[in-house]
Formats: sequence, C-alpha cells, structure tokens
Amino acid sequence: MSAEKVTVSIIKADVGSVVGHARPHPSMLDAARNVLKDAQKAGTIEDFYVTRVGDDINLYMTHYKGENNSDVHGAAWECFQQATKIAKKMKLYAAGQDILTDAFSGNVKGAGPGSAEMTFEERGSEPLLFFMADKTEPSAYTLPLTRIFMDPFTTTGLVIDKRAKQGFDFEIQDVMANKKVVMSAPEESWSILSLLGDTTRYAIKRINSRSGIGPAAVVSTDKLNMTAGRYVGKDDPVCICRCQSGLPSVGEYTQPFLNNTMLVAGWMRGSHIGAFYPCSPEDSDPTYYDGPPRICCLGFQLNNGKLQGLEPYGAKNGEHIPVDFFGTSTFDEARRNAIRASKFMRSQGPFVPSILGAEEMEYTSRPDVLKELTNRFVSLDEEKPKKASSKKAAAKKAPAKKKKVEVE
Ligand code: F6R
Ligand code: MG
Ligand code: MG
Repeated sequence: MSAEKVTVSIIKADVGSVVGHARPHPSMLDAARNVLKDAQKAGTIEDFYVTRVGDDINLYMTHYKGENNSDVHGAAWECFQQATKIAKKMKLYAAGQDILTDAFSGNVKGAGPGSAEMTFEERGSEPLLFFMADKTEPSAYTLPLTRIFMDPFTTTGLVIDKRAKQGFDFEIQDVMANKKVVMSAPEESWSILSLLGDTTRYAIKRINSRSGIGPAAVVSTDKLNMTAGRYVGKDDPVCICRCQSGLPSVGEYTQPFLNNTMLVAGWMRGSHIGAFYPCSPEDSDPTYYDGPPRICCLGFQLNNGKLQGLEPYGAKNGEHIPVDFFGTSTFDEARRNAIRASKFMRSQGPFVPSILGAEEMEYTSRPDVLKELTNRFVSLDEEKPKKASSKKAAAKKAPAKKKKVEVE
C-alpha cells in the first residue's frame, strides 16, 4: 500500500495595501496567522507559513486533505476575510480587491484568490522552493521553467542525472480556448516551445517527472481559467517546486534568475513589459513605477508534512524561518540588470513594446477614444472611386489608352 500523500498548497490574494499597491499591513498578516493557527489546531492543516510579495498575501499550507479541499480553501478564504476587515478599518488601498464573491462556495477558484497545489508521496528528504511574483502573469514562469526543465545548456542535470534525463511532462494551458494539453520533453521540446513562446495564450500549469517521482512544479493560473477566452488582468502568480534527487537541484532552479534578465508582462497598470527583479520578500515593495515585476524564492524542507526552515525543530504557530534565496548579495547583479532593463523599456513611453499589445492591456482608454471618433473616421476606400471619377484622373487615363493604340 502506498504511503499517505501530502499536499502542499499556496493560496494567495491581494486584499489591500498600505500606500497604493505596495504592501499589506503587518496586522493583516497577523490576522491570517491567527486563522491558520486555529486551522492547524483543528487538524485541517498540518503546518503553515504566512508571507507576502509586494501587495499579495501568500499562505503556504501543508495537509493531508488533497487538492481543492473545501476546509483548506475555507481556512484561506477566512484569512482573506479577516485581512480585508483590517484593510477596510484602516482605509487601506484596494481593500478586499481580490474577493470577488460574497459567499464562499467551497473553493477559492473563480472567487478571486489564486492557488497552486501539488500532492505527492514525501520522499526520504523533500526540499521545496516557493516562488512568488508580483505585478505579472502566470506565463512569466514559462521562460525560467523551460530553461530549467528543457535546456541542457542551463541544467546539466538533464544530461548527467539518470532520472532527470528521462524527461518531464508539461501540462500546458491554452488560456484563450480554456483547454490543456500534456506534452513531453525532450522529444517534443521544439513543439512545446512553439506554443509556449506565445506567452499571451499559453502557460505552464504543471510539470511532472517521467521517472516516477511525481509532480515537480505547479503554477497558479486560476484567474486565467476563470476568464478563459478573454484576457483580463495579471495574476501575481506563485509556483511550488520540488527539488533534488532526480529533479532539478535548488541551484538549477535559481540559476536562470541570475544568468538571464527576463522581460515579463504586467508592471504598472498590468499593461507594461518590465524585467523580473529577484529579491527578498522584505525588499519586494514595488517602488519603481509600481514595480518592476518582482520575484521571491523561499525554501523549506518538508518533514512528515511539516515545514522545516532555520527555526528550531518543532516550531509552532507557523513561526518558521525559510531560506531566502534571492535575498542574498549573489543576486545584486541580477537586480541591477533588472533595473537597467526596466529603465530602458520605460524610455519607450506609451509605445509598444514598453506597453502591451491592445488585447493584453489591463487598462485602456482606446474603446472610448474610438467611440468619440466614430463620425470623424473616413474610409480610405471611399476616397478611391472619387479620385478615379475626377476630371483630372480621367484626363490622365486617356492619353495612356491612346499610347497603347499607337504601339499596336
Ligand atoms: C498593477 C497594479 C498597479 C495599479 C496602478 C493603478 O498590478 O496593481 O500598477 O494598476 O497603481 O491603480 P489604480 O487603478 O487602483 O489607481
Ligand atoms: Mg495589487
Ligand atoms: Mg500584487
């Protein structure tokens, strides 16, 4: 009989922040901790950690209830309700922003918050990385994840680790058609990239090991699901990754964020292109033009369903200390490069590619502008016959005919 499977969930939402869209108030995070303490006492969850990236509250939870469990989602929903109450009392900005329904119906999907969950048999040792991004969209993870899982020039493990070499299955979502497809790397690598290169339409949802280890990575794509067929807004997505022993190592996951300056969609008004800025949660306030898009990477070991960071063994009440991978001075260079690239993009002002294409803009005034101009737009086609029938055009045409006759 197989061992009981553990589920690792992140549920996240932006329910208000201090000074525009900058960061949730510490009291909001405390309120979430109190709700999850109770959920832990009640046995709904095994363990938890509450953190944030930019203006988004992120709840990490471990449990044995499986994905989409109504008690676990209900606990997260309650965290956001309590945090919203505080945000409203303090008159913070965008209080309750991601709470889209009055009544919780058993799952946060479609109700505003985002979620990423994976279920697996805990290995002898289970290192986990939690990526959290703000002011960008789920497909922002596509470039780093394809480099990590598909590019042997990035991840040497794909060549020299026997199990990693067996490859990975990618669940790819078509957010326009609300469809998904599973494709395998390395065999279908170039076909996978021919889809994923279009980050406006395709995003990676899950990556599974083909050597029997189970899930390797999962990305939150909830809002995109909900609004399939119509592109609205950015999601500030999270991504959970399992590491080592046949999966990419911790360092293989973090490497692309230093070696590459990655341009992603989102940033100011969800309508721009900016460079991913890897940083600590503490450094994740969007201070430059509401950004640039920031990404954090926190690590924990899993220990029989509980999170183990740098805190003493057996810590209670979610009092954990994760390893903060992007908070180190190693990533200073990546941050400088990100600011340099983002400043360069800003030099284009309100022109593409600094701003996104029309279908992707979260904010646009174009429909109103076009409405006002309805009666002032003149068809270019209508002008042609007028020209052709004018006396001048007729005079020009006539000698040409005559010339043709002369030649004959
Ligand atoms: C982007 C974001 C911000 C806001 C911008 C305008 O995800 O949260 O860049 O879009 O500050 O916000 P409003 O419309 O609330 O004034
Ligand atoms: Mg926000
Ligand atoms: Mg946000």
